[in-house]
Amino acid sequence: MITLGIETTAHTYGTAVLDSRKKGLKQVLSNVRDMYRPEKGGINPFDARDHHLRVKEKVLDDALLSAGVTLKDIDLITFSQAPGLPFSLKVGCEHAKQLALQTKKPLVGVNHCIAHLEIGKLSSGMKDPVFLFISGANTQVISYAAGRYRIFGETLDIGLGNFIDSFARVAGIPFPGGPKISELASKSKNLIELPYTVKGMDVAFSGLLTNLRNKYESKKYKLEDLAFSLQEYAFAMVLEVAERAMAHLHKKELMAIGGVASNTRFRGMATILAKERRGKFSSPPQEFVVDNAAMIAYTGAIMYKADKNKYVINPHDANFLPKQRTDDVEIRWIK
Ligand SMILES: [Fe+2]
Repeated sequence: MITLGIETTAHTYGTAVLDSRKKGLKQVLSNVRDMYRPEKGGINPFDARDHHLRVKEKVLDDALLSAGVTLKDIDLITFSQAPGLPFSLKVGCEHAKQLALQTKKPLVGVNHCIAHLEIGKLSSGMKDPVFLFISGANTQVISYAAGRYRIFGETLDIGLGNFIDSFARVAGIPFPGGPKISELASKSKNLIELPYTVKGMDVAFSGLLTNLRNKYESKKYKLEDLAFSLQEYAFAMVLEVAERAMAHLHKKELMAIGGVASNTRFRGMATILAKERRGKFSSPPQEFVVDNAAMIAYTGAIMYKADKNKYVINPHDANFLPKQRTDDVEIRWIK
């Protein structure tokens, strides 16, 4: 089966082609992305929408061309239906709907967060990990239990990635600020005391952000030291909660997904944690850790195979769900 996937939950417009007759990541015939990058500040939802409208046909053409297929070869159309920025989601939903009507092929809407989990499992071969989902908007500890991906802990305010980008913006670093913060942090070993906010199984970053902003504006601290301390505190907080979920659920595998999972220092800390628990840590290759359409196509294809009556939607009724949660989705594809 050849599946087309469209990803448009936030800043990335992606289109991918998958061949589910192949094994593992070899299924991915193409995975094309075009990312909206604001000149300064965070994502402007209107600019993101305009970007997506501008690039959607070109991204589709590139994905088909590099997979060596045409629209006629596609058996299934999938798109990121939830959650995300409404204006961004709408562009992908409309495009998928139009393609489904044009090709008369079935249409499946996919939860973007669950797609991150599924491509993680595909890329690592892990069967039942505890996931630490750390992206711009999301910070959650998730694992499968009794028919759902359940959330065992999460941020009480902003996502880890948005927290890092917000501090970067304070320091005049353009979006996305994560890579530059990581580079600055690697130049320091000087840990400055900051607030450590873990409440039960949840974490919070806004107090930490305020504290860092005050310290930066006082001009008494080096930016490298603040970046280093930010990473040490924030990563220790999320890993503490993930470790407790592993202990509680008796699971040995830890997988990090979402944009922040590509941070080198984070990966180092997670690897040590997993080793101390005699478990494994993994994170998908960069191409699949960031927002991408291959994960949408892959997840849509396994949903379709597991229960097409439940998951196929009528293109005329196709909608998008900006606020759908990971545990809202009934999982019929895990036995
Ligand atoms: Fe994402």
